[in-house]
Parts: sequence; C-alpha cells; structure tokens
Amino acid sequence: MDQGSDAPAAGTSRFGNHEQVVFCQDEASGLRAIIAIYSTALGPALGGTRFYPYGSEDEALADVLNLSRGMAYKNALAGLDHGGGKAVIIGDPATDKSEPLLRAYGRFVQSLNGRYFTACDVGTYSEDMDVVARESRFVTGRTREHGGAGDSSILTAFGVFQGMRAAAETLWGSPTLRGRRVGVEGVGKVGHRLVEHLREDGAEVVICDVSEAAVERVKTLHPEVEVVADNAALIRAGLDVYAPCALGGSLDDDTVPALTAKMVCGAANNQLAHAGIEKRLADRGVLYAPDYVVNSGGVIQVADEIEGFDFERARSRASGIFETTRRIFALAAEEGVPPAVAADRLAERRMSAVGRIRGIWL
Ligand SMILES: NC(=O)c1ccc[n+]([C@@H]2O[C@H](COP(=O)([O-])OP(=O)(O)OC[C@H]3O[C@@H](n4cnc5c(N)ncnc54)[C@H](O)[C@@H]3O)[C@@H](O)[C@H]2O)c1
Repeated sequence: MDQGSDAPAAGTSRFGNHEQVVFCQDEASGLRAIIAIYSTALGPALGGTRFYPYGSEDEALADVLNLSRGMAYKNALAGLDHGGGKAVIIGDPATDKSEPLLRAYGRFVQSLNGRYFTACDVGTYSEDMDVVARESRFVTGRTREHGGAGDSSILTAFGVFQGMRAAAETLWGSPTLRGRRVGVEGVGKVGHRLVEHLREDGAEVVICDVSEAAVERVKTLHPEVEVVADNAALIRAGLDVYAPCALGGSLDDDTVPALTAKMVCGAANNQLAHAGIEKRLADRGVLYAPDYVVNSGGVIQVADEIEGFDFERARSRASGIFETTRRIFALAAEEGVPPAVAADRLAERRMSAVGRIRGIWL
C-alpha cells in the first residue's frame, strides 16, 4: 500500500500487516471496490471477490482485510503456490451488477499485473468471472464454456469428507464414518454433496436447512435421511459428528455447551463465533477440524484452473486434506494447543520457510 512519510509505524497501520490495499472507483459504472493483498510470500495472492451491500466503506475494509488474511492461511495449508488476497465490491449484486461495472473491476485486477488472482465468492458467480476475464488475465473460477473448472462445491465437499475421515481416525482409530451419526447443517451446494459421501461411507445422516427445496432434494435421493427443524435441534440430536455447512458463526457460547457431537467438521467459513471458542471445544473434549483447512477443496480447484483445469489432478491435491488434517491434530497434541491454533502455526511456518527462499538472489 502506498504510505506517505507520515504513515504510522509498521504494524500499527489501519491496514494491519497487509502488503497492499487498493481502493478502486469508477463513477460511471458505480464501481467501488477494495482489493487487499495480505501476503505474496508463497506466490501471487489468490482469493474471491465478494459483492455485498456493506453499510459503509469501513465495514467493507474490515471484511476484506480479514478475508484476505484468512486466504493466506488457507492457501498455505492447501499446499498452493499462492499468497492470500481477497476483494470486495460495495453494492447490491441484485441491482448494481452490470457488464461495465464488472469490466471496470477487471481492469483494476489487471492493473496489479498478476499480484492478485480473483475468483467467485458471495454475490459473484462463474458467469461474472467470464466478464471480469474480458479485461484481465488474472481471473479463475470461470465457466466450463470459457475453459474454467465450473462449480467448486464438488471438491469442497470431497475435501470436507477427507478432513472428517482424518478426524474419525484420530477419535475412533479408523478413517471411516461408517455407523456414525452425522448432522449436516445446511444442505446447499456443498452440504448435499457431503451427504452423498457420508451415505456412501455408511454413515447415518441427520440434516436441517431453512430452505424446503434444499431438504426435498436430499430426501428425494435419500428418503432414509432424518430431518430436524433447525440447528438448535440438530446439535442436540445425539450426534457423533456435527458438520456446519450453512453460514459462519455456528459455534458460539450457546451452541458449544449443547453439542452432543464429539467432532465438528464442516464447510462453512468462520465457524468459531469469536476467539476462545476453540478452547471451549477442546475443554469439552470435542475435536474441531479447522474450517479453512477442510474447506480448501474449492480454492484447490480454482488454483488448478490457472494451470489449465485437470479434475483428477485437482482431486488428488484435495485428497491431501486428509493428511494435512491429521498433521494438525498431531501438532495440536504435541504442542498442547487446540487444532485451530496448530493449523495457524503450521500455515505460518510454511509461509515463513518457503517465503524465506525468495531471499536467494537469482
Ligand atoms: N461452495 C464452495 O466451494 C465453498 C468453499 C469453501 C467454503 N464454503 C462455505 O460453505 C458454506 C456453504 O456453501 P454453499 O456453497 O453450499 O452455499 P449454499 O448457499 O449453496 O448453501 C447453504 C445452505 O445453507 C442453508 N442455510 C442458510 N441458513 C441456514 C440456517 N440458519 N440453518 C440451516 N440451513 C441454513 C441455505 O438454505 C442453503 O441451502 C458457506 O459458509 C460457504 O462460505 C463453500
């Protein structure tokens, strides 16, 4: 980021420890966007574009700083050669999205000359990335018609399942969910695919979703799946495993004491409502598979697309989530910390160890 001579001392900037924060504006199309690059220690930053009606620019800035930092950790543990970045477009995607706006945004992405690759996030879709890509080479998550990888929820669900198998092995000695009772909160794009993996593995599945259509889709394929009214009922449903696959913040001061499950492993981002919840879970003897580790199948897929998408190669990398989750549990036990802390440590070690070699003069 461009800091003048009166810039605050390092580490005290309102941009935190981020490498670069770019404010973008195009009045005619109504574009107002912020691109944040947390770190390029492992390679060009990669992370999606969130299109959201933020209440203020400060709110948008806080979100993009937080999300881009999260992407650096996620990409590091996914074993990718990508740093962490993210972008937000301020506005209502239902009314403000237009071709000129997306193309103006694409030109700003291009102006970073490959320091940041963008993709889809809340409020943006593969079709939008096709439009952004008309102005920039640094776009992934496009449609299949445009050489993209399409729906990322396939490998996200697969990755969550791999993380769950690793957690099952740690808890019960064998990497299978056979005979376990698993509660899936939210059976949308990722959740319904997770149900497929679970049923195939022989698990008993309980679901809840605010959308009747989403519940019906699962019931049509799997009439044996049990449905409960809401998340409050789900967490009390005598579960072995709780899989949050709806929105963030499912684990809070009310839900953690009521959990019947011995394991939490799901796709939702930011499952822990606030700092300290990871310790409360550990104190209750609940094994928590860190969200950003087990849900990295989607970013693995879009990163693969940058090379020219190969589903088998991406799937093979996503199966590595099993081993990474295992390593996190082992490190957590070794260092006496909750798995969420162990995951952060492992990510920081990779960023620092691999980032350091860039200091070798070429
Ligand atoms: N799609 C991906 O590749 C991907 C990758 C990484 C992380 N994630 C995260 O996984 C989660 C699910 O993503 P998705 O793509 O399946 O989204 P989605 O919108 O397709 O599915 C979410 C489902 O949750 C349901 N839901 C919303 N509020 C609920 C509530 N209070 N109780 C129960 N159900 C509720 C919705 O009706 C919907 O069916 C999100 O948190 C997302 O950020 C997704």
